[in-house]
Amino acid sequence: MRVLGIESSCDETAAAVVRGDRAILANRVLSQIAEHRPYGGIVPEIAARSHLDHIDRLIGEALKEAGVTMAALDGIAVTGGPGLIGGVIVGVMTAKAIALVQDKPLLAVNHLEAHALTARLTDDLPFPYLLLLVTGGHTQLLIVEGVGRYVRLGTTVDDALGEAFDKAAKMLGLDYPGGPLIERAAAQADAAARARFALPRPLLGRPGCDFSFSGLKTALRQAIATLPPGPLASGDVAAIAGAFQDAVTDVLADRTGRAIDLFVARHAQDAARHLVVAGGVAANRALRARLETLAAASGFRLVAPPPALCTDNAAMVAWAGIERLRLGLTDPLDFAPRPRWPLDPAAPPAVGAGVKA
Ligand code: KG4
Ligand code: ZN
Repeated sequence: MRVLGIESSCDETAAAVVRGDRAILANRVLSQIAEHRPYGGIVPEIAARSHLDHIDRLIGEALKEAGVTMAALDGIAVTGGPGLIGGVIVGVMTAKAIALVQDKPLLAVNHLEAHALTARLTDDLPFPYLLLLVTGGHTQLLIVEGVGRYVRLGTTVDDALGEAFDKAAKMLGLDYPGGPLIERAAAQADAAARARFALPRPLLGRPGCDFSFSGLKTALRQAIATLPPGPLASGDVAAIAGAFQDAVTDVLADRTGRAIDLFVARHAQDAARHLVVAGGVAANRALRARLETLAAASGFRLVAPPPALCTDNAAMVAWAGIERLRLGLTDPLDFAPRPRWPLDPAAPPAVGAGVKA
């Protein structure tokens, strides 16, 4: 079985071909970061136009690299949402055109499901497992019980964690995307430097597994305001970046620890215990180290797919397509792209402006 995957829901245009035996035959990703950098964040209109400019070429390159013709494909998988709707439309329309002309099944994949199932592509994990998904758009704790079967334990009520890193970086005068630069700056600050700035740990110790990062952002702004005006000294940037990273790491460990308890209570019989961390923020070494300790203390194995498959890509979309195709879960050609698409429709809606799913 060979499936083409197409991804265009955010700021990566991507095309990939994946085989049923988990071989990735091609995985092309074109990042738009340079186009958005002058604005310090993603501009939806720029993203949609850029997807349109590049998507056909990327699909052609992926097929060529995989040595597969369109006629030889078993299905066309595409991110159908959630995401920036202009970009999602570009991908979905492209996938529909190929599916129609080639008479192949269309697989409209939930982008979050694609992230959630990546650990099965990379590590062949059995269901169920616990997933911490931390990207620029999402911060969720989910129990992955099967294809299309998710229990959302927690989500952010405001900013996503990657977004919080990016906003913090902007306040510190660092470039975009800010996560890796915060990590690098934080590595320059020792414990004494970090302790200069007492930042809050939003929702730490509170019931449930939700996240909140907007208060932290405000605290950061206030901390910066105590410093002399003008460009920040590099020592101050390092100290604040370190304090910020410590605060979010504490919060993530607390929330994930609670999710581990809920997972164990729900799946007491299951011997295999896996905690998967995925998304761009999962690249953060301090965060990974903390999760590793947490997982080990609870008898869980931490599984972190390689960064190239953790950040947005089309191999994960193709793989989710394969999982769905095996179950006969294909979609009609009148599938409507979705800006919002919760993985667990039964989860209570989280109130907050930044909630995307
Ligand atoms: O998953 P991703 O590549 O794209 C989506 O948002 O879908 O995640 C990008 C986010 C950005 O906000 C970026 O700042 C953050 O991941 N990020 C990091 C690190 N590397 C990337 N955050 C913290 N530490 C890092 N090392
Ligand atoms: Zn994503």
